[in-house]
Amino acid sequence: MSDGNGPNAFKVHEIMIGRTRFPSNVLMAPLAGYTCFPFRLMAKRLGAGSAYTEMVSADALKYNDRATSKLLYTDERETVKCVQLLGSVPTVFERAAKSDLLAPFDVIDINMGCPVPNVVKAGEGSALLEDIPRAAKIIEACKRSGKTVSVKCRLGMNGQKIVIEEFARMCEASGADMITVHGRTRSMMYDGEPLYEYIRLAKESVGIPVFANGGIFSKEDALKMAEKTGADGIMLGRYGFENPLIFAELTGHECGDTKYSLLLEQLELSSEIFDEFYVLTYIKKLASYFMKKMPGTKQLKADMYRCGSVSELRDVLGAIFKGTEYAD
Ligand SMILES: Cc1cc2nc3c(=O)[nH]c(=O)nc-3n(C[C@H](O)[C@H](O)[C@H](O)COP(=O)(O)O)c2cc1C
Repeated sequence: MSDGNGPNAFKVHEIMIGRTRFPSNVLMAPLAGYTCFPFRLMAKRLGAGSAYTEMVSADALKYNDRATSKLLYTDERETVKCVQLLGSVPTVFERAAKSDLLAPFDVIDINMGCPVPNVVKAGEGSALLEDIPRAAKIIEACKRSGKTVSVKCRLGMNGQKIVIEEFARMCEASGADMITVHGRTRSMMYDGEPLYEYIRLAKESVGIPVFANGGIFSKEDALKMAEKTGADGIMLGRYGFENPLIFAELTGHECGDTKYSLLLEQLELSSEIFDEFYVLTYIKKLASYFMKKMPGTKQLKADMYRCGSVSELRDVLGAIFKGTEYAD
């Protein structure tokens, strides 16, 4: 993809991140409750250079419970495996990064952006923006696993406390192989236009690849983000889930898929791996995101949410999507 104009026109290309080759520089963000294995596989098949697991507590790995093992599910079909860890204690990160549970993963991404109050109170996520020495130790601890290490962060805690320049330099000095900058502060949560100039500042402050994230809801937004920040690549969040076909559109991947065909594919794939309750929850979420811009879907959504089995859900999805532009 390129708008063909100007020195900052965005080019899609493969990119080396530390020891790991990403087939494209258009990535799918971690989204808690959404970026499960089937979704990640689909995003990559459509052109995403990588897709991240949702955040997993570094500390919770020691329990190896069923909830965590679902989050960490991967197999040989997934290439460029990236796991995101959340936590605040460097030794806990090191133990997690070196653990057998994470052995299949090529890349460890460290969450330094989550704005949720309980997370911040625990000194995790975006709280690390205000504890730069600790953040540095966490990166160094993860690097000792020998894996590729990336950091995903925000600009600062609020508009008066923007730290991204110093933070980006610290990430590079501590050994991070890449930084994804969500161009909002913690207090902006998920709203408002990203502050492009600060993503650009991060890009200009370091030599490692910088990816730009936040507020990309169309191809035009993607081009604008790339143009305004000069970033090495972009990462899509909510819109990547709403319309995974955007990855094919941005990267020029040929695919004959429709939103309906993707839903059926995801239904089959997730049924192969997960229990029926999980499949129903996941597919209902995905279908309702896919229906975001479909007019008059209130009743259809209610019908869908009532489905209690996969076969019933398959029939209802057919009734909703067949014959619409989402199935052509
Ligand atoms: C429902 C939801 C779950 C999220 N979960 C995570 C997460 O697990 N880890 C993370 O680093 N960011 C998480 N994020 C933030 C996104 O990765 C992304 O940075 C943010 O949504 C901005 O991008 P967007 O405006 O394109 O959606 C989440 C965001 C949402 C809306």
